[in-house]
Amino acid sequence: MSHNTFGHLFRITTFGESHGAALGCVVDGCPPGIALTAEEIQADLDRRKPGQSKYTTQRREADEVEILSGVFEDDRTGGQVTTGTPIALLIRNTDQRSKDYSEIRDRYRPGHADFTYDTKYGVRDYRGGGRSSARETAARVAAGAIARKVVPGITVRGALVQMGPHKIDRGNWDWDEVPRNPFFCPDAKAAALWADYLDGIRKAGSSIGAVIEVVADGVPAGLGAPVYGKLDQDIASAMMSINAVKGVEIGAGMASAELTGEENADEMRSRNEGGPHFLSNHAGGILGGISSGQPVVARFAVKPTSSILTPRRTVTATGEDTEIVTKGRHDPCVGIRAVPVGEAMLAIVLADHYLRHRGQTGRV
Ligand SMILES: Cc1cc2nc3c(=O)[nH]c(=O)nc-3n(C[C@H](O)[C@H](O)[C@H](O)COP(=O)(O)O)c2cc1C
Repeated sequence: MSHNTFGHLFRITTFGESHGAALGCVVDGCPPGIALTAEEIQADLDRRKPGQSKYTTQRREADEVEILSGVFEDDRTGGQVTTGTPIALLIRNTDQRSKDYSEIRDRYRPGHADFTYDTKYGVRDYRGGGRSSARETAARVAAGAIARKVVPGITVRGALVQMGPHKIDRGNWDWDEVPRNPFFCPDAKAAALWADYLDGIRKAGSSIGAVIEVVADGVPAGLGAPVYGKLDQDIASAMMSINAVKGVEIGAGMASAELTGEENADEMRSRNEGGPHFLSNHAGGILGGISSGQPVVARFAVKPTSSILTPRRTVTATGEDTEIVTKGRHDPCVGIRAVPVGEAMLAIVLADHYLRHRGQTGRV
């Protein structure tokens, strides 16, 4: 059984490898009549694309998206819209350097998926990790750009909130700051500190982990399918499916273990319209697996890039002890480019649940 498909009613299937001809996805289940252009998808892809600063991999991929199917422009009404049929998106690979990977052909990178892919499939694309390469996440970002348009009125945003041991000061949080620095950081002071910190990591040929927070505003109350398709459950699954993610939290997350019942309770007050007003959001916008109408908040931890220049002990494919140094072009902190990927996965889960809720209850 292979599993390259995610979602139920809004369903994406991704394909392709980092050193193959192209990668892409098929989005099935997108409702008809949604205005959609390649430029809109491109705008999201450009935020994930490599080579944008010295802090990300210098691989130069244009990541240009082509829409192959599922859209139509009626020359009487104008404006391209979705047709309700499968939307196929293609992103060609243009900057592979397969020789960069000759060192790892017969040895396994500790922390990467080389050993497990070899063990499972008996064949491994050593040039760039094949399907284990995070180039696959470009296809998710493209699909996410469509998902964002399915739920009316939602905004999905993400930010890097911790790099290595350095957390942002939440008091400085400013969404407008996020596009102004190369880290998607909402705290200008933290971004300045991270610049020096990551430069040191990069020059040492090392890497570092990070924490990303994704927030969806405008999510209607009622999305989520208890008891085995809870909204928080599906968000956790979506985030955990992103390369290098080792931890996911919703709302107060792990910190809720330290709270008392009084502190944790998101108290409610009535208001004239739009459901109750919550006085806090420890629940991350989800109660009983169903969205409450509050912002949906998830966080995920991304491990440090395993491809580093410091020699690490490993074994060869034939079982001998050896060492490995991974040359090539790698991000010193893959968490940075994981920000748009997290946003895309959250948008995809919300689009899927929006359609599922509408299908089951007839309401939105
Ligand atoms: C946006 C992004 C870019 C990544 N780039 C690299 C990279 O350049 N080199 C690398 O070793 N790992 C990179 N990774 C992580 C690997 O893809 C990942 O660690 C590997 O597939 C093993 O899977 P796992 O860490 O989920 O167990 C990246 C991850 C993300 C999210």
